[in-house]
Amino acid sequence: MRTIEEDIERILISEKDIKKAVKKMGKQISKDYADKNLMLVAVLKGSIIFMGDLMREISIPLNIDFMSVSSYGGGTKSSGVVKIIKDLDHDLSGKDILIVEDILDSGMTLSYLKKILSQRNVASIRIATLLDKPERRIADVTADYFCFTVPDEFVVGYGLDFDQQYRHLPYIGVLKPEIYEK
Ligand code: IMP
Ligand code: MG
Repeated sequence: MRTIEEDIERILISEKDIKKAVKKMGKQISKDYADKNLMLVAVLKGSIIFMGDLMREISIPLNIDFMSVSSYGGGTKSSGVVKIIKDLDHDLSGKDILIVEDILDSGMTLSYLKKILSQRNVASIRIATLLDKPERRIADVTADYFCFTVPDEFVVGYGLDFDQQYRHLPYIGVLKPEIYEK
C-alpha cells in the first residue's frame, strides 16, 4: 500500500497548531466584524479546509461564496497569469468581504482578486490567509489576517496541493524534492 505520508519530508505545522491558530483568527474576526455585513469569499480549491474550519470558529452572522481562479498550471511557480474559472454566485453590494486563501505567495492571485472584487460596490475588502510566504512576494499585497509565516519551500496539506494531490493531509508538510523534480 502506498500512502501519501511517504512523500512528505517533514511536518512543518502540526494539526494541533493549525487548530489553535484558526480558532484564534476566528475569534479576532468575530470581534472585528461584529457590526459589519461579513461575507467570506473562498478561493477554490486550496482554501476549502481552512474555510470550513475558520467559519466554524466565527460566532457572528456571515455568508459564504466561492470563486475559482487559476494561476499555476501543474508546476510550483506562479505563471503571473490569473484566469477566473468560476465567478461568485452572489451580489457583493454593501458586503464586508473577507477573501479566504490558503497561501499568499507571489501575491499575483490576491492582488488581482482584490482589484476586481473591489469594483463591485463592496463596503470593505480584506484578506485572511492560512499561510504567508513573504520571501516570494512580487505584487504589493499584504494579509490582514494570517495564521503562519512559512519559509520559501513548497508545502502541501490542509487543502494545499501539488499537482492536485496531498490536499487531504491533515497537517502542513514539506514535500520530498524528488516528487516535484520527477
Ligand atoms: P500567488 O499568486 O503566487 O500568491 O499564489 C497563489 C496560489 O499558488 C495559492 O493559492 C496556492 O494555490 C498556490 N501556491 C503557492 N505556494 C504554494 C505552496 O507552497 N504549496 C502549494 N500551493 C502553493
Ligand atoms: Mg493550488
